[in-house]
Amino acid sequence: MLELKNISKYYTLGDDLVKVLDDISFSVNKSEFVSIVGPSGSGKSTLMNIIGCLDTVDYGTFIFDGINIEKANEVQLANIRNKKVGFVFQNFNLLWKLTAVENVEVPLFYRGIAAKECRTIALDYINRVGLKGRENHKPNELSGGQQQRVAIARALAGNPDIILADEPTGALDTKTSKEIIKLIKNLHKEGQTIILITHDNEVAKEAERVIKIIDGRLYE
Ligand SMILES: Nc1ncnc2c1ncn2[C@@H]1O[C@H](COP(=O)(O)OP(=O)(O)OP(=O)(O)O)[C@@H](O)[C@H]1O
Ligand SMILES: [Mg+2]
Repeated sequence: MLELKNISKYYTLGDDLVKVLDDISFSVNKSEFVSIVGPSGSGKSTLMNIIGCLDTVDYGTFIFDGINIEKANEVQLANIRNKKVGFVFQNFNLLWKLTAVENVEVPLFYRGIAAKECRTIALDYINRVGLKGRENHKPNELSGGQQQRVAIARALAGNPDIILADEPTGALDTKTSKEIIKLIKNLHKEGQTIILITHDNEVAKEAERVIKIIDGRLYE
């Protein structure tokens, strides 16, 4: 599903050219659960942004579902970002004025799905992540773990080919973190393709395959 070949990415800081990703190659097959683990600043989020087509590479080739991203047009890129990828972030990125179910509905509305159907789909995903009865709560009326469940439901509601989760347990205590990992593992059992990004080796080990990244270099 994903193929990265000899990818490098640079940032310029003043006069210096900083190599953030150094000759990275790996692929991810459909239904795999892969974790990418590395210390702070190692390039994990940069890599995630590339995989999610939010950022571009300087060298190398990235193929997403048969599409060479370098050569893709804006319509193809928008299609991947909006339909093929479900993002989950450390800080949940929920809309604070909306309720749990409304947050899950947002990506569905964007696809032009009728309001009534949006509600039905969103409630189904709210239930699946174990939030039945909390659908009308706003994020500030939910615990951190519950907020992350809403974010996961939102990512799933779009029926993405792949879930990209960047430090999804980073803001959670150990017990809540374990619950979220359990939920992610269950999604994998149902066939969902997942890339989990973390600095925590214990969390990374929960995946079926672990890729290490240190100073922008990959070790598998
Ligand atoms: N827009 C940018 N301009 C310049 N340097 C950047 C930019 N974004 C990231 N970097 C640098 O790239 C390196 C990798 O950053 P990245 O955010 O990918 O790390 P990370 O592994 O996700 O770290 P963390 O675990 O702290 O989230 C860092 O040294 C960072 O300073
Ligand atoms: Mg990061």
